[in-house]
Amino acid sequence: MKTPIYILGIESSCDDTSASVICDAKVLSNVVANQEVHAKYGGVVPELASRAHQQNIVPVVQQALKQAKINKEQLSGIAFTKGPGLMGSLLVGTSFAKSLAIGLNVPLLAVNHMQAHILAHFINEEDSKTPPFPFICLTISGGHTQIVKVSNYFEMEILGETIDDAVGEAFDKSAKILGLPYPGGPLIDKYAQLGNPKAFAFTKPKVGDLDFSFSGLKTGILYFIQKQQKINPNFITENLNDICASIQYTIVEILMEKLKNAVKKTGVKHIAIAGGVSANSEIRKRLALAQKHFGWTTYIPKFEYTTDNAAMIAITGYLKFLNNEYSNTNVTAKARLKVTE
Ligand code: KG4
Ligand code: ZN
Repeated sequence: MKTPIYILGIESSCDDTSASVICDAKVLSNVVANQEVHAKYGGVVPELASRAHQQNIVPVVQQALKQAKINKEQLSGIAFTKGPGLMGSLLVGTSFAKSLAIGLNVPLLAVNHMQAHILAHFINEEDSKTPPFPFICLTISGGHTQIVKVSNYFEMEILGETIDDAVGEAFDKSAKILGLPYPGGPLIDKYAQLGNPKAFAFTKPKVGDLDFSFSGLKTGILYFIQKQQKINPNFITENLNDICASIQYTIVEILMEKLKNAVKKTGVKHIAIAGGVSANSEIRKRLALAQKHFGWTTYIPKFEYTTDNAAMIAITGYLKFLNNEYSNTNVTAKARLKVTE
């Protein structure tokens, strides 16, 4: 075994091409190429995503190695996202990682993207604190909304999940109704900062105590906007900040309510959040308050490790490397993969 251990992580599950080099658990580089091409379509176009990954992957990996100031021969292993995600996108990273691992004669480490969002909490940063086991993780992204009990690095149990849309979709689809470009989540967050969260009330869904549902909320928002526009065609532009603040408030209320249920059910008070939506300023604020009000200890990832990134793939690969959990070169990408697989 080479010491120190350098792992290259490659992420290509959706619309971001990313590569990262970590040394032991410290991030040396984390390069993310966003694909602007999807914005005008209001969502990710799978065919365009896989082509963009193919264009980006070589320069992104080269950049990650350059920023880390190492050459590829120093790498101890190659980690890549096996799934879940868009098949065409996953295939680009999978094939690239396999070729590189074979070329360098180093272990190949297949990573579950959903586990990686959670395990990003184990990246060693100067001011970061690592959750102890067991902890509860609220994984909120564009494709998933889950409450997971994490008993060890690779021992996870889904306590609840969405029965329809993911929370990121709720943000993005609401933004689309308001005429905002994709991905709309960060824009709702931005406008919400200037608005009144109690300006408009939206009905919260009624589902099992740890499950989520967001499709009804989206329809409720659509009908509300259509009704208001009949009265005032400029309703959106005149009330954008208040509408965004009210939508964000409703969504975060739903998330907080479910977390409280999870704490009640499990007795676990170490609470982490992960996934793209954990970049949201309101959920971050509310969790900070929960530390004071409910005695929880909360773990909020650094902003750059919330949305899709390869550092989270590299840290997960590193943990697998330490366990000798290497993959065969016949490993295949999987569009559907549970966090427990
Ligand atoms: O984890 P991620 O990068 O990709 C998936 O694996 O899905 O999550 C992307 C999602 C998008 O829906 C995006 O709108 C949302 O995260 N998002 C946000 C914020 N930043 C990203 N949603 C609300 N507020 C934000 N600040
Ligand atoms: Zn993700």
